[in-house]
Amino acid sequence: MTTDGIKDLLEGIVGPNHVFSSPDGPRLVVRPGSTEEVSRCLATMNAQAVPVVTLGGMTGLVGGTDLFGSVIGLSTERLSKIHSLDPIRKLLFVDAGVKLEEIHRFVSEHGLRYGVDFGARGSCTIGGNIATNAGGNSVVRFGMTRANIVGLEAVLSDGRILSDMGGLVKNNTGYDLKHLFVGSEGTLGVVTKAVLRLSRPSSDTASVLLALNGLDDALAVMATLEHRCGQSLLSMEIMWNRYFKTVSKAILKGSPPPLSDAFPIYILAQVEGVDADISAQDVLVRSLDDVDLIQESALADSRSGQEAFWSIRDGSEFIETSHPRVLSFDVSMRPQDYATYVEKVEKRLGEALPNAVPYNFGHLADGNVHFMIGHDNMVPEADHIIETCVYETLSDYWPTSVSAEHGIGREKADHLWRSRSVEEIGVMNAIRAVLDPVGILNPHVQYRTRK
Ligand code: LAC
Ligand code: ZN
Repeated sequence: MTTDGIKDLLEGIVGPNHVFSSPDGPRLVVRPGSTEEVSRCLATMNAQAVPVVTLGGMTGLVGGTDLFGSVIGLSTERLSKIHSLDPIRKLLFVDAGVKLEEIHRFVSEHGLRYGVDFGARGSCTIGGNIATNAGGNSVVRFGMTRANIVGLEAVLSDGRILSDMGGLVKNNTGYDLKHLFVGSEGTLGVVTKAVLRLSRPSSDTASVLLALNGLDDALAVMATLEHRCGQSLLSMEIMWNRYFKTVSKAILKGSPPPLSDAFPIYILAQVEGVDADISAQDVLVRSLDDVDLIQESALADSRSGQEAFWSIRDGSEFIETSHPRVLSFDVSMRPQDYATYVEKVEKRLGEALPNAVPYNFGHLADGNVHFMIGHDNMVPEADHIIETCVYETLSDYWPTSVSAEHGIGREKADHLWRSRSVEEIGVMNAIRAVLDPVGILNPHVQYRTRK
């Protein structure tokens, strides 16, 4: 069928105002306004074997929402309703297109909180968070998105609506199908609604920024904080010197950073008060009082003071624009392997591509390092050289992942084999073939074995 033909069919479902050309090119984007419309759109595209890419907040880092070839974008933008909050069970019922930040704001107005949080909160959608099983800054406390989803509605490629929106804590009647969709990157269906697990926030939080001399010290401080703060530990993030320095300079525009930017490693930890008798700040002070590895520290318990620290941690966008080209990586391993791994990658990179500049940061407690590696785009094959440095070095360690929290998208497909066995990839593709036999859903996300 021609593009005009499919456009007419989709317009017949969602109305002419909700089928338009993508801003960056000639491709169509359809914006259904309800689950039923998603269902009819997918059934139509399936019947015509038209490939479709689901679009959420477009904040992904692996090219998962790139539009290419003859695909049609299916935007969840109009699925934007917060349906209800069950205060007894502490559950929130939402549409897939609701932004993470809006969820935080809404539940906080009702005296509750949703545990998943990260820098892209203002743009990313809960549907995208689910499709990528987003992690973020509080995984140490709340787990990844999967651990916070208790119900889901998804539309399959042929238009069938699979709904498990009851939010039961216990339901061991066969497979828990909703979890197939969490982390599936839109390959098994389009997530249209979700039930989120909420919890009570503590009365206060405090954050501490610590300057340290090295990774071994960071691991020792982490062990101390985990031991002494227990459940009150919300986050334990790490920034290497160049990341801290570059982002703080960009954000602070001439004002001095909260700590000297001359140290190799920075930790940003956040805790909450355990009960009314002990404030979050006291928890931190007591936990770190006798730790002599700390070179410099800054503590904040006000909202604005903490936000100032966190804006540095969440400011990776400033790195993205600081070189003609920037590659981003999201690897995981045992935290105790970081030190030698990062050192080896940087050494290899220095030899293979001296102009490349690595900025490292990540989620220390989760064993998850993000590298953003900038280059001047003058050396042909630079991307390939950089990928080789990051991934070949990874194979000296086990266990590891080439994508801890960002998914496979288009960019990581060639490296999936490094983290998944032939058998695992085979089962992934078998499940996919059952749920999307025509192969219309996000066909660019490919689960390939080694070439
Ligand atoms: C972060 C994103 C890049 O941790 O995962 O900021
Ligand atoms: Zn991250």
